[in-house]
Amino acid sequence: MAERDPPPGRKTPIIVGIGGTTRAGSTTERLVAAVLSSCAEMGAQTHMFGGDALLALPHYEPETSGRNAAQRAFIDAVRTADGFVLGTPGYHGSVSALVKNAIDLIDDTRTDTRAYFDGCPVGLVVTAAGWQATGVVMSAFRDIVHALRGWPTPLGVAVNAIAQRPFGDDAAGGEIVDPAIAEQVTGQARQIMALAQSGYAQRVAEMIAQTGTASTA
Ligand SMILES: Cc1cc2nc3c(=O)[nH]c(=O)nc-3n(C[C@H](O)[C@H](O)[C@H](O)COP(=O)(O)O)c2cc1C
Repeated sequence: MAERDPPPGRKTPIIVGIGGTTRAGSTTERLVAAVLSSCAEMGAQTHMFGGDALLALPHYEPETSGRNAAQRAFIDAVRTADGFVLGTPGYHGSVSALVKNAIDLIDDTRTDTRAYFDGCPVGLVVTAAGWQATGVVMSAFRDIVHALRGWPTPLGVAVNAIAQRPFGDDAAGGEIVDPAIAEQVTGQARQIMALAQSGYAQRVAEMIAQTGTASTA
C-alpha cells in the first residue's frame, strides 16, 4: 500500500521486487525488500517475490503455454509493474539459477505491447562472499536487463556480505546497520521512483503501439 499519495494526475507506481535465495534470512532478499520498503516510503505500491516464491516457479519451458498459479501470479505482477528491483547472489561468478529461471519466465511477455522491462527502471542488488563477484555479477545482471529492454538504475547495490555484514549479526532482521549501504538502498529507490513516476513506460508503450513492436536485442 502506498504511504504517500502521488501528485495529481499521476498514478501510484507499482514496483515489483524479485530476488533472494532458498536460505532462511537471505541477505539478498532482505536487501531487495529494503529497496522496496524505501520505494513504498516514497509512494510506491510494492510486490515482493522472494526465495520461497521463486522456488515455487517450475523450470521455465518456453515451448509450452501451460503455466501454474505461481507462474501466472508472477507474470501478472510483471505486466502491471512500473519499475523493478532485482536481486541475486553471486553463484559461481554469475546470476543464480533460481533468479535466472524467474527472469526467463518473463519471456512470456515477449508479444505484449510493452514486452519484458521495456521503459521501466530496474534497480539491481548483488550479494557475494567476495569483492570480485560483486562487480562481475552486477555487470552480468545489467546485460540481462538491457536484453530485456529495461533501464538499470545508475546506482547498483553490490554488497560483500562477508566483509560488510549489512544487517550486522541479526540473522533475520530487516534493519540495515551499515550507513553506506543504507544510503545506497535509499539512493537506488529514489532513482527507480523518479523514472517510474515520470510516465516514461506508458509513453514507450504508446509509441510502440503507434509504430510497431520494438526489435529484439
Ligand atoms: C552455489 C554457490 C556458489 C557461490 N559462488 C560464489 C562466487 O562465485 N563468488 C562469491 O563471492 N560468492 C559465491 N557464493 C557465496 C554467495 O554469493 C553469498 O554467500 C551470498 O551473499 C549468498 O546470499 P544469501 O545471503 O541471499 O543467501 C556462492 C554460494 C553458493 C551457495
